[in-house]
Amino acid sequence: MKTKILMICLGNICRSPLAEGILKSKLDPKHYQIDSCGTSNYHIGSKPDKRSIQIAQKHNIDISSQKAAQFKNSDFDTYDYIYVMDNANYKDIIKLTQNPVHKNKVNQILNELHLDSNLDVPDPYYGGEQGFQEVYEMLDKACENIATKLKKHTQNI
Ligand code: 4NP
Repeated sequence: MKTKILMICLGNICRSPLAEGILKSKLDPKHYQIDSCGTSNYHIGSKPDKRSIQIAQKHNIDISSQKAAQFKNSDFDTYDYIYVMDNANYKDIIKLTQNPVHKNKVNQILNELHLDSNLDVPDPYYGGEQGFQEVYEMLDKACENIATKLKKHTQNI
């Protein structure tokens, strides 16, 4: 069975589509399913923001066919690992958990880079292109650590 990972942000058009694309580029699709969604319903059905598509393209990652979706309660059962981009996303998702198993699946993605830091991936939506570059770099590093950890874990089972 595939290991399933879900990336979550607010709108599912800037940060989590990038996180999905970056992690997909580091893991074999035969063994891993990676998706993303938003806590909000603001952009359901939309393609990622042009600036996210562009920064991904610059690194040979194509996220242009992704479509935004909203988190749903059944995702707690579907996914093994749930990564949120910031503290607000964490609060919104934790509010929906009904048991410790679901709660334990949720973590802030930058904790994979700086243990227990609870740092936010800043929302680049209202800023300029530079913000997207910075978000790309932090997500790339965090996803590298996640991919390494998952591959080790899979080898051991
Ligand atoms: P994201 O960025 O959560 O990284 O997709 C945002 C996109 C849209 C909005 C907020 C954040 N919005 O308010 O529409």
